[in-house]
Formats: sequence, C-alpha cells, structure tokens
Amino acid sequence: MGYVRNAWYVAAWADQVEQDKPISANILGEPIVLWRSEGKVVAMEDRCPHRQAPLSLGRCEEASLRCMYHGLRFDAEGKCIEIPGQETIPPLARVRTYPAIEKHSWIWVWPGDPDQAREAEIPSAVGVDDPDWLLGRGQLDYDAEARLINDNLLDLSHVTFVHAASLQGGPEFAGSLPTVTQVLRGLRFQRWMVGTTTPSGGESRRSEAPIDDYMTYDFLIPGILLMYTGSFPAGTAEACNFGEPDRSLAVGGVSFSSQAVTPTGDKTARYFFSAGPHRAFGNEEVRNMQINMALMAFAEDKVMIEAQQKVIDRAPDRIVIPTSHDRSVTQFNRMVDKLAREEKELVSLAG
Ligand code: FES
Ligand SMILES: [Fe+2]
Repeated sequence: MGYVRNAWYVAAWADQVEQDKPISANILGEPIVLWRSEGKVVAMEDRCPHRQAPLSLGRCEEASLRCMYHGLRFDAEGKCIEIPGQETIPPLARVRTYPAIEKHSWIWVWPGDPDQAREAEIPSAVGVDDPDWLLGRGQLDYDAEARLINDNLLDLSHVTFVHAASLQGGPEFAGSLPTVTQVLRGLRFQRWMVGTTTPSGGESRRSEAPIDDYMTYDFLIPGILLMYTGSFPAGTAEACNFGEPDRSLAVGGVSFSSQAVTPTGDKTARYFFSAGPHRAFGNEEVRNMQINMALMAFAEDKVMIEAQQKVIDRAPDRIVIPTSHDRSVTQFNRMVDKLAREEKELVSLAG
C-alpha cells in the first residue's frame, strides 16, 4: 500500500528550525531542507540544482539560502538569484519548493500537488506553547515503515500487553472494543470506563472516588493522533449515552496528546509526540510524570514494531489474520489506499 501525498505531514518541531540555520528532513523518501526566510519557514528539495550538494549544508542569508559548495543563492520561491562569477542565471537553476506552514509547534509540509494545499486542513493539534496545557514532548526515529506505527495507534488492544508496565494498561483495552466512527479524513475512537478508581494512564490519573473515565482520539490522514482524556462524575457516561460528554464537567485527569507519524523513507519513520495535563488539572510534576510514562510506552512500542518489521521483511507476502480489533486498522488503511490510488490516477491523467 502507498501513502497519500496530498496531506500535511509533520516535518519537524518548529523550534528545530532556527532563524539562521537550515536543517534537513525527509518525507516519503524525499530529502527536504527547512529554513527561515525573514522568519517564515520554507521547505525546499534538499538538493542544489548545480551539482546536487545538499542545501541543508548551506547558509541562510537574510531572505535567501546559499549553497555552501559553490555559492549559488536561492530565494524562498526556490529561484536562483546569484551565481558567483556569472552574470546570467539560467531559468533551470531552480529548486522545488513545498507548501510549508508553522502551526501548533510543528512544521507541516505538503508533499503533494501544491495547488491543493489548504491551511485549514491542518489537524487541530495542541502546540506545546498553548497556554491552556502543560505539555512535555519527544520524538523517536523508527527502523520500520510508518504504516506499522499507524496500525499500532489504530488498535489500542496492545496497551493491555505491551504497556502493562508503563501505562498500567488493564484488561479492558484488549477485552472490549472502543466505539469507532468515521470523521473527515480519519476515525474517531471513544472509550468509557465506568465507575473506576484506576483510569488508564497510571498514577497521575488515580481517583479516590469512583469516576467515569473518558478517552477519545481522532486518527487522521496521514498519521496524526489527537487524544483527549478526562475523568467525569460517576453517571456521566450513561447520561451522555456513552458518547461525547460536556468537557466542562470534567472533575480531574484532563490531558491531551498530539502525535504525528511521518514516513521518512520506505522502512523508516519519525514519530513526534506531546502529552500532558490541562493547566487546571495538573502541574509540572504531573506533566513530567505523564511524558516520562509516554516515553517509556513509546519505547515499548518501538521494540515490538521494529521486531515486527524484521519478521515481515523475511516473508513479506505472508497474509495476516485480522481480529475484531483490526476493523479500524482495515478501515483506515482502505481510506489511505483509496486516496493514494485516486491521486495516482489524477497524476497519470495529467501526465
Ligand atoms: S552544488 Fe551547489 S553551488 Fe555547486
Ligand atoms: Fe502503544
């Protein structure tokens, strides 16, 4: 299966792209250089059209980027504006640019048709600088294809087994199915634990009195997860028919996590994540506890997924036996397949 090109992929944390220093990133196997032209982020192919040196080894000069091999200089549109020792600039001296936007503490890059890139379609992640939340963050590089990480996030039944220690995942994750509904370009998962004192998420979310614990997340194309958890007075789940509660009625444990899975190459991926409590329901100590727990849990996922990739590589044509938890995995992958196919058809029609 392929990946969708017409989508916003997270390329980096916004503060990793400093004012005067280009950095390299990879999306779908394409090397990209990220830099700032007068503060505004620019994404271009990481390849100088002269003799193909990486522009990420270049130098920012005000609103331009200079290749530090033989000194060709490019503006934010990728146009060459200077060739040392030469008056005329051939029109072919251009670098491909990608739509790029800085939002929610991430740099989002659109590798597909630039005419279809709409800022409004950037998922509503929560930035680490959001004043309402106290978020910690991290990132992990995977030697595995992004799809396997997406599959992992679309089926949390693994929490019971993989995260028994870190997240103290109880039997409910594997033992029952969440409610899953389709949303625009993705799936929404909702799960209630009724009358519990040990909601998912470990120590920082324990409750003395029984509460109804709510966890929901959207998983959106190309691989963005936005998760909200909160504890509500006992009886809330039934009162809202096990659907979405009025979030202003939460009594504790309100937290948010934004996660992004970016395929960097065929069998490599970068996983960006943040997690932490709402300011009204936690402090820095709770934030640290939650992000440390997430770091532990995501390391557990990485061990399993990278090992899984090795087994798959030994015999890539073997079939899988889906379980009922895989329904959402299949549903999401079908959505991706359909969009990827349609994109290819459009490209071949245009070509
Ligand atoms: S390779 Fe970039 S200037 Fe020569
Ligand atoms: Fe996991």
